[in-house]
Amino acid sequence: MIAVANQKGGVGKTTTSVNIAAALSMHGQRVLVVDLDPQGNASTALATEHRGDVPDVYQVLVDDLPMADIVKQVPDMPNLYCAPATIDLAGAEIELVSLVAREARLRRALAAYDAIDLDYIVIDCPPSLGLLTVNALVAADEVMIPIQCEYYALEGLGQLLRNVDLIKAHLNPTLNLSTIVLTMYDGRTRLASQVADEVRAHFGETVLNTVIPRSVRLSEAPSYGQSVMTYDPGSSGAMAYMDAAREIAHRATVA
Ligand SMILES: Nc1ncnc2c1ncn2[C@@H]1O[C@H](COP(=O)(O)OP(=O)(O)OP(=O)(O)O)[C@@H](O)[C@H]1O
Ligand SMILES: [Mg+2]
Repeated sequence: MIAVANQKGGVGKTTTSVNIAAALSMHGQRVLVVDLDPQGNASTALATEHRGDVPDVYQVLVDDLPMADIVKQVPDMPNLYCAPATIDLAGAEIELVSLVAREARLRRALAAYDAIDLDYIVIDCPPSLGLLTVNALVAADEVMIPIQCEYYALEGLGQLLRNVDLIKAHLNPTLNLSTIVLTMYDGRTRLASQVADEVRAHFGETVLNTVIPRSVRLSEAPSYGQSVMTYDPGSSGAMAYMDAAREIAHRATVA
């Protein structure tokens, strides 16, 4: 169970969640993407209805609806499933505050959910460190942090790492910062390679060897309700996420 988190907006959390999940599923792994962002971008990318009154993650977290009641199979992707987020989830951040075990609602819901023999659960977090992200970090075994290869990329990272440590200390002792993935890498700029070097110097083996390049195809795919894996499998972005997924799967087997 992997939480994809970074409170900085627009660093590639959703793109990474969706495409890693799709790549793993195309290798026969059964994968559930939990959309934990009220923006519902992961649901959109996976062509999973998330408007109107479709049952969603909000109802699971706040109203105790079983996870099985909201999970949908992703169209044309036999091993891929999505738990959608509607805009209602925006209210959860506040409504969770007064609930019992507010940090562990997602963990509880996923523990009770064993319907479809999953190999991976990927949780796409919103760009904040609020209770939704805390729920993801409490439920997960691993944290994956996408870092955009830009100048401000490392700002705020300290705060995220402190939160991970706090959750380890108090709520989820086995949580492991397993993976950092460098995103939107533009090989033509020195800045991108400087940021990449700096991240590798600091985080070592945690950083995937595979770097995700900037690729227009990656940003186009969601508007067709597809991952880039089906939208344009030969594109640089698709091949990079395929390699990244392979690294992640390999790490899981040697760990
Ligand atoms: N490697 C890439 N190349 C080109 N565009 C990308 C790449 N990765 C992501 N994008 C685009 O950048 C934007 C932000 O990416 P994404 O939505 O994945 O980030 P996010 O961290 O989930 O954002 P938010 O914090 O709003 O949830 C999107 O428009 C996406 O299509
Ligand atoms: Mg997102």
